[in-house]
Amino acid sequence: MDGNGRWAEQRRRPRPFGHRAGVKAVRGIIRACVSKGIGALTLFAFSSENWSRPRSEVRSLMDLFLRSLRREASDLSANGVRLRFIGDRSRFSDELVRLMSDVELQTQGNTRLHLNIAVNYGGRWDIVAAAQALAAQVAAGELQVEQIDQERFAQALSLSELPEPDLLIRTGGERRISNFLLWQLAYTELHFSSALWPDFDDQAFDQALADFALRERRFGKTGAQMQAGASN
Ligand code: IPE
Ligand code: MG
Repeated sequence: MDGNGRWAEQRRRPRPFGHRAGVKAVRGIIRACVSKGIGALTLFAFSSENWSRPRSEVRSLMDLFLRSLRREASDLSANGVRLRFIGDRSRFSDELVRLMSDVELQTQGNTRLHLNIAVNYGGRWDIVAAAQALAAQVAAGELQVEQIDQERFAQALSLSELPEPDLLIRTGGERRISNFLLWQLAYTELHFSSALWPDFDDQAFDQALADFALRERRFGKTGAQMQAGASN
């Protein structure tokens, strides 16, 4: 979700004004996913690099995160949304950490939409955390080095219980991954939208989905093999 700051600057308003408008866009996209039957949505809300923004912006983002979560949790739950957070929680306030686990617990029985929010997340952090977890198992004698294959490694990463993402949408005009789900995106289709995140509405989302529907996904195979069926 990129472009909140520019959206605000275009209106000669402070950046937090854009972040608040961004929350409205989040609400719209979640609603659209629920109504379209999309099973999983992962939002990149705050990267591990975003701490280096001005202190006041970081503070207002944390505050907005806390307030939005409090405000939206029961509504999301009532709509069958299961909320989970990925990323390193160790730098958040106790209050926020507690709220995050409360909401996860409150919604854990829901299955309509798996909504994952990446906060203080980085794709490299994710990979290193997985490597550490596996190394600890090896050190404890619970795992042999030879048993570490791609499948086991993927199991140690964030979102391992969900299918790999079909589509990545980045708004705001930039065409890069910026340390999002590096491993998980290996075969994901990429869609770059020039819309600033607060402007990313149902119509822009439909456009992204229509673009996705035109892609031929081969996963390394030839087009003919894919036509003949996945087992060839
Ligand atoms: C994305 O919008 C939201 C967060 C990173 C929290 P930006 O804040 O990056 O907006 P621009 O890129 O400055 O416009
Ligand atoms: Mg940005």
